[in-house]
Amino acid sequence: MHSDLEKILFTPEQIQARVHELGEKISADYAGKEIVTVGILKGAIVFFADLIREIKIPVKFDFMAASSYGITTKTSGTVRILKDIDTDIENKHVIIVEDIIDSGLTLKYLKNNFEHRKAASVKLCAMLNKPEGRRTDLTGDYIGFDVPDEFIVGYGLDYASRYRNLPYIGVLKKSVYA
Ligand code: IMP
Ligand code: MG
Repeated sequence: MHSDLEKILFTPEQIQARVHELGEKISADYAGKEIVTVGILKGAIVFFADLIREIKIPVKFDFMAASSYGITTKTSGTVRILKDIDTDIENKHVIIVEDIIDSGLTLKYLKNNFEHRKAASVKLCAMLNKPEGRRTDLTGDYIGFDVPDEFIVGYGLDYASRYRNLPYIGVLKKSVYA
């Protein structure tokens, strides 16, 4: 797997330090409240598992799986929910946890969806952010790192279902998918 990478962007140590900071920030921002973190399968699970252990206030968690419809049509922001949460989020403070924000279409749809279910608040947390890919006005509330507009793998992120188990984050060589 390692030889398929062009370069490493973030080492396990850098990731751990940043996730610790995000956990501290979330713990301070929500002090005295209870939160529900919703991880978006499958990419977010590695980050999710690390993040929740850095949050020092009560947390309930759940998972959701979604897939984008009409990925080729630029205007399509329709997302299909493949697995929904079981938790009742009415009046709850929700943090959606994603691996990466690219176009922002997936998270924009999910955020609206959760607001319609009358959550007390909905915030977005993503390990990575690709600002150049954005096709919506969406901005994350808690972001680990900004990344260039290249194909990123590792720490949960995949290409063709592979590389999710790499403990670091890197750029996949174009020769692997071109
Ligand atoms: P979007 O923000 O709606 O475009 O969708 C983001 C989703 O696309 C993420 O949850 C990832 O599954 C996937 N994705 C976007 N960029 C990358 C990447 O560089 N590597 C791996 N997956 C990516
Ligand atoms: Mg994803």
